[in-house]
This record gives sequence, C-alpha cells and structure tokens, in this order.
Amino acid sequence: MSAVIEAKNITKIFGDEPETAVRMLEQGASKTDVQAETGQVVGLNRVSLSVEQGEIFVVMGLSGSGKSTLIRHVNRLIEPTAGEMRVNGRDILGLDEMALRQFRRKELAMVFQNFGLLPHRSVLDNVAYGLEIRGDGKDERLEHARHWIERVGLAGYEGSQPNELSGGQQQRVGLARALAMDTDILLMDEAFSALDPLIRSGMQDELKSLQKELNKTILFISHDFDEAVKIGDRIAVLNDGAIVQVDRPEDIVLKPADDYVAAFVRDVNKARVIHISTIMERDLESPCGFDITATASCEDALPLFAAHDALAVTNEDGKRVGRITARRVIAALARHAG
Ligand SMILES: Nc1ncnc2c1ncn2[C@@H]1O[C@H](COP(=O)(O)OP(=O)(O)O)[C@@H](O)[C@H]1O
Ligand SMILES: [Mg+2]
Repeated sequence: MSAVIEAKNITKIFGDEPETAVRMLEQGASKTDVQAETGQVVGLNRVSLSVEQGEIFVVMGLSGSGKSTLIRHVNRLIEPTAGEMRVNGRDILGLDEMALRQFRRKELAMVFQNFGLLPHRSVLDNVAYGLEIRGDGKDERLEHARHWIERVGLAGYEGSQPNELSGGQQQRVGLARALAMDTDILLMDEAFSALDPLIRSGMQDELKSLQKELNKTILFISHDFDEAVKIGDRIAVLNDGAIVQVDRPEDIVLKPADDYVAAFVRDVNKARVIHISTIMERDLESPCGFDITATASCEDALPLFAAHDALAVTNEDGKRVGRITARRVIAALARHAG
C-alpha cells in the first residue's frame, strides 16, 4: 500500500495572529483556550493522516470540528498555517498557480453536500461540464458523460434539468460528474448529508459497490457515525480540529479512544460492526452445522443460529479457520451493549 494523501502536522488558524495561536497549541492549549485568550479560531490542530490507495477513508466529527477545513487542504482551497500536504507523492503546497490548476483538474474530483449543479444546464451538460473545462472534444465528452450517467442509474434523465430531479437523483448527477473526471482521488464533503435517510442509505450502498470496481482513493467527510462505520475502511475522528483516533470501524467501536469517541459509538448497531473473525474460537475440529466466512458480521450470523448450534468459520479460500457459537456471539454483543 502507498499513501495517496499524506497530511503532516497540519495546523490552520483563522485570524490575524496565527503565530501566538500555534505556539499555544504546541504548549498544549485547547481550541477553547486559544480562542478565549487570542480570539484566533483553531481550524485544525496538528493533523497528520495518511490515506492509502484504494481505501474509503472517512473523517468524522461534530459540526465545527474541522472536517471541511481538512478536506479543503487536500485540493489547496485552504493553505495551512503550518504543516505539509502531499498528494500522489508530491508536495502540493509548492505548486505554482498553473501546476495547481492542472493538479485540481487531473488528480482529484469533488462531490459537494449541496450538489453544486449548474441549474440551467441539463444533466448531460452538468456531467460533461468538467470535461469541457478540461478541453475534451464535444463528442468524446458527451459519450463519456452518458456512460457515467448510466453507471449511477440515471439513464433516461440526460435531458432533465436539475430542479426536475429529487435530491438523491441530483446527488447521483454530482457523483457522475466527479467520476467522469477519471481521477484516482475522490473528495466527498458530507456528500450524502442532505439526503433523506432511506435515499442516503441507498447511496451509501451504491458508493460501496461502485468502489469495488473503481478502486479509487476516497476521502469522505461525514458527521454521521453510522455512515462512517458503514462505508469507511478506516475512520479518523476529529474533535476541535485535532484527530483523536484513526482506526478500522470495528476497532473504533470496540476500543474508542476517549469519551468523545465513545459517545458516537454508544448508539451504533454493534452486531453489524463486529466481525466473526474477531470473536471466533480457533477450533478446527468440532463438528459444525454450517459455514460462515470470517469477514461476516454478527448480524449476518444471527439468523443461521436459528437452525444451527455452531458454525464453521472459513477464510476466502473456503478453508476452515475457526468455529463460532450463538453463545459466543451473544456474549460479545452483551459485552459491548449500552
Ligand atoms: N473562513 C473561516 N474563518 C474563520 N473561522 C472559520 C472559517 N472556516 C472555518 N472556520 C472555523 O473553523 C472550525 C472548523 O470549521 P469546519 O472545518 O467548517 O468544520 P466542520 O466542517 O467539521 O463542520 C470552526 O470553528 C469554524 O467556525
Ligand atoms: Mg463541514
């Protein structure tokens, strides 16, 4: 694995006296301390993270925790007060204006919370717009746009105007527009947050299934922990501009780093998050009624226990790696309940 997006010690202070604020942060002052004493707003506090090729990396935190500030550093819409940002191995803070424009067009695409569609252009022209700016020929860009409109399930809507579409459909257009750019990196800032819960859940499923084929590097911002757990390969939790934990969803749920993270974890459906591999016994001998894969969740296993007392756990090659009983699943869920 190689790091596609790499932030090192990024600090962002909003205000005209950043040096004092930076010094205070280094001495351990909190965002609130800095604001009270200097009037400077801490956007980010020494954020370091590394997003690997092909993963969906979710940055999660309450409103005002610095999520948008962080994602805007990746395309350099915001310059850091201190720290380094590398994308595809390159120091993007060193790019001149021309190189920066090229970088934004070729290396990353963004999906916005409020869709950001051009209201008087058709779906087709919205999706083709970025390609037009990039200088693609007309036939080529329209064909490419049609392809992605179909891929996000909007075939037949090419001629519609954005205001004729539902919120979910509009965001499909936003997604198609970003995917049409063929960049390896996708930045999504609360892309599904404006959608109704059911539509939202459908979009999450769809993003995951698209990602299986596309294998992009996705930085996804969310204030919703359930969403983060559902789509994230890894999750970084932000609080007051600082990262408090970076882990796989299951590890965050089982071992929250502090009370702030624990508060998010409390209401999550643990059965969906805990994997069989985490709680199985290494028993390769005892007879079992049925097989289940090690990557399955407790939720997947539960209905099988209606008919079987124990399940053989298998790896991706179908080889037995353990055994799981209903009692063991229930014990794990009870341990992490409430
Ligand atoms: N342009 C700005 N000027 C001053 N303060 C800002 C600016 N942008 C963001 N902030 C502050 O930085 C912090 C992080 O904001 P933001 O990144 O928008 O949070 P989030 O996206 O997690 O809701 C907040 O305290 C916010 O008020
Ligand atoms: Mg935001």
